[in-house]
Amino acid sequence: MERTLSIVKPDGVRQGNIGDVVSTFEKNGLKVAAMKMIHMDKKEAEGFYAVHRERPFFGSLTDFMSSGPCVVMVLEGENAIARNRELMGATNPANAAPGTLRKRFATSVEQNVVHGSDAPETAAYEIGYFFNQLEIVNK
Ligand code: CMP
Repeated sequence: MERTLSIVKPDGVRQGNIGDVVSTFEKNGLKVAAMKMIHMDKKEAEGFYAVHRERPFFGSLTDFMSSGPCVVMVLEGENAIARNRELMGATNPANAAPGTLRKRFATSVEQNVVHGSDAPETAAYEIGYFFNQLEIVNK
């Protein structure tokens, strides 16, 4: 069993995609182990995306991520990290496979509806960024 962090980004919340995103996870073997809605400020978004701080898109990305509420979730399942990334599709929706969340709902490489951890170490950091142990269901 593996855990990963998923975010429905501000564009996904604004467009009304929360239900479709969660339902896609639930229909594809991922269980929600924690979930809440948050509105990050600029500093919180910068902390979350600290690995990207040298990238040219860092300022714009963190403006966008602090532009409205997000839904953050811990997903649990076998190969949850890879499975979530498969369901999301490529970062740029233009390259995302048909049926993936980004192909269905994303409008640009920045406003791409969902985020998912890319490796076990990032998943541990990202889950810990938003949730403490008491907020994650342990069955
Ligand atoms: P995400 O999976 O959340 O991880 C980093 C984010 O940076 C990525 O999704 C995109 O939203 C954003 N991103 C990646 N590449 C670019 C780019 N070239 N221009 C703007 N945003 C980008």
